[in-house]
This record gives sequence, C-alpha cells and structure tokens, in this order.
Amino acid sequence: MIYRIVKYLNNPVLEKPAEKVTEFGTAELRELVENMFETMYAAHGIGLAAPQVDVSKRITVIDITGGEEGHEPERLVLINPEVTTKEGKITEEEGCLSIPGIREPVTRARKVTVRAQNVEGEWQELEGEDLLARCFQHEIDHLNGILFVSHLSALKRDLIKRRIRKLQKAGEWE
Ligand code: NI
Repeated sequence: MIYRIVKYLNNPVLEKPAEKVTEFGTAELRELVENMFETMYAAHGIGLAAPQVDVSKRITVIDITGGEEGHEPERLVLINPEVTTKEGKITEEEGCLSIPGIREPVTRARKVTVRAQNVEGEWQELEGEDLLARCFQHEIDHLNGILFVSHLSALKRDLIKRRIRKLQKAGEWE
C-alpha cells in the first residue's frame, strides 16, 4: 500500500520528535515497514521516515539504489536509530520527498556509524560513507523533527518558505 507523503510547512508531524518503538516482531510493524518501502520506491526516493507518512514513530527505511532496475535492492530498516560516531565533513545538494522540487547544498559528516534496531528488535551497527552517511543523517533528523532546510541559513530558509506558501495559495502544494 502506498501512503500519502506529508509535505513541509504547516504539518506538525514533520516538526516534532517521533516516539520510540517499543513493540517488535508484530504484523503491524512489518506491514508499516513494507508499505514505507513501497511508498519510497513509488516516489523515487532513497530514504523515508515514518513521520513523512504521518506516523510519529522512530522508524526509517533506506535504499540508496532507489530500487531502480538493474540494481540489487539494498534495503535498510532503522528503528530507534542513533548516530554514534561522525567523521569528516562534506557539502552536497540534498532534497526531501516532503519538500519536492527543492534541493540545496547541506554540510554533513562524511562518515557515520549508526546504532539501530531491526523489526525483531535486535540491535545492529551500521556504517555509512558519503551518500549513505548523508541519508542516515537526513532520516534520523526527520525522527527528531528536523528537516534539511533547518541546516540552511535563515535567509535561504525564509525564501524557501515564501516559495512554498505561494505554491500552497495556488493549490500546487497539496
Ligand atoms: Ni526527507
């Protein structure tokens, strides 16, 4: 099932910390994760956090291949994730399925280690560099109610907000 992706601005679910997952191995959790992958692939994204589908839980799914043909899927499920180490810095353009059509350079750690639970509740340690590291940081930010525009200058953020409000008024940002 493909969920509706919630968009930035005036959607409080995107800007509040999500709740910890405490029940594992359930059919509900498996289904939610499956549907999140389906929603992410349908939107041509490489990561999706539960608050983006209006579920305020600390769950994110990632596949930096984007599920494109010719690539083996590399599905990662991170539940209650935390960044444990960060190394280096790199600035690259970043986008978000909740802020479609807007991409801006964001500085992030180049390499990170993440601790997270899987659907069974088992803890795992994951390492990511470059795009995967960026994805980990972007998605974990979502679980803390932080969007990539928070990392931009106030001036740039205001310009983006103004652009979105205009689109909202025109009914082009549903
Ligand atoms: Ni995002």
